[in-house]
Amino acid sequence: MSVQSFNEAVIEEFRANAGKVGGPFEGAGLVLLTTTGARSGQEHTVPLGFVREPDGEQLLVVASAAGADRHPAWFHNLLAHPLVRVETGTEEYGAVAMPAAGARRAELFAHVVRQEPGYGEYQQRTEREIPVVVLQRTHETASGEDGVAGKLLEVHGWLRAQLGHVRREARDHVAAGGGGPAPLGLQLRQHCLAFCQSLEFHHTSEDAGLFPYLASQHPHLAAFFERLAREHRVVSGLQEEIVQLLDQVGEGEGAGAGIVERLEVMSRELEGHLDREEEQLLPVLRALGAP
Ligand SMILES: [Fe+2]
Ligand SMILES: [Fe+2]
Repeated sequence: MSVQSFNEAVIEEFRANAGKVGGPFEGAGLVLLTTTGARSGQEHTVPLGFVREPDGEQLLVVASAAGADRHPAWFHNLLAHPLVRVETGTEEYGAVAMPAAGARRAELFAHVVRQEPGYGEYQQRTEREIPVVVLQRTHETASGEDGVAGKLLEVHGWLRAQLGHVRREARDHVAAGGGGPAPLGLQLRQHCLAFCQSLEFHHTSEDAGLFPYLASQHPHLAAFFERLAREHRVVSGLQEEIVQLLDQVGEGEGAGAGIVERLEVMSRELEGHLDREEEQLLPVLRALGAP
């Protein structure tokens, strides 16, 4: 049986039995992790063992590939697309995948090996440092409102919170002299990419779905929708610059300053845009009622 068809059989059993899988996984903690292909852009689901963080909050998964010398595909995927989906036996949620770095990685790996000694054996088989990935659950801020209006407020709330978080991290990173593991620090990179990708997804769905529909229902708002579309293009240009800067900035150069500056501009543009949308569109969406 190929690895792929084995995985497919496990995924099917997992989903059919609220996360319980027999055979070699009997009694083991298992999650399904869905990543977005780094090159293909296609969704890709794998069953993985997990260990809980020492404080019990988040789940940890280990890119061991059974001690092979190459990282598994899902690890490459989550570096390119940090937003992932996690299925446990009872729930399904979005998460930002955060590979631990430096001392934190060492601490978490030791914790993992205490729980599941097999990972220690895998590490002995390879020169590669086996990554430990924290699956940071994304918490949507409940808007307390139903329908499309409530959904829009929720997404905007998440984007605002995420951008605030990324700006703080970028400033901290520069203040710390731009050091830390990997260009700009993995943490900033993953959060920044997750924010940019969510923003892009949100604006694409507005441009392709919500706005054309609302414009057809409310022709007098045509100029307003054109303005929003222009703002989307401005924000999208900034987002591309930020993603490029993430890739270009080298380690320890203190060169995160460019990102801090671009994030400040992004913040001004985006806050104004979100405010405008909410001010003008929420009354229209509320009048629509439930979707
Ligand atoms: Fe928008
Ligand atoms: Fe929006």
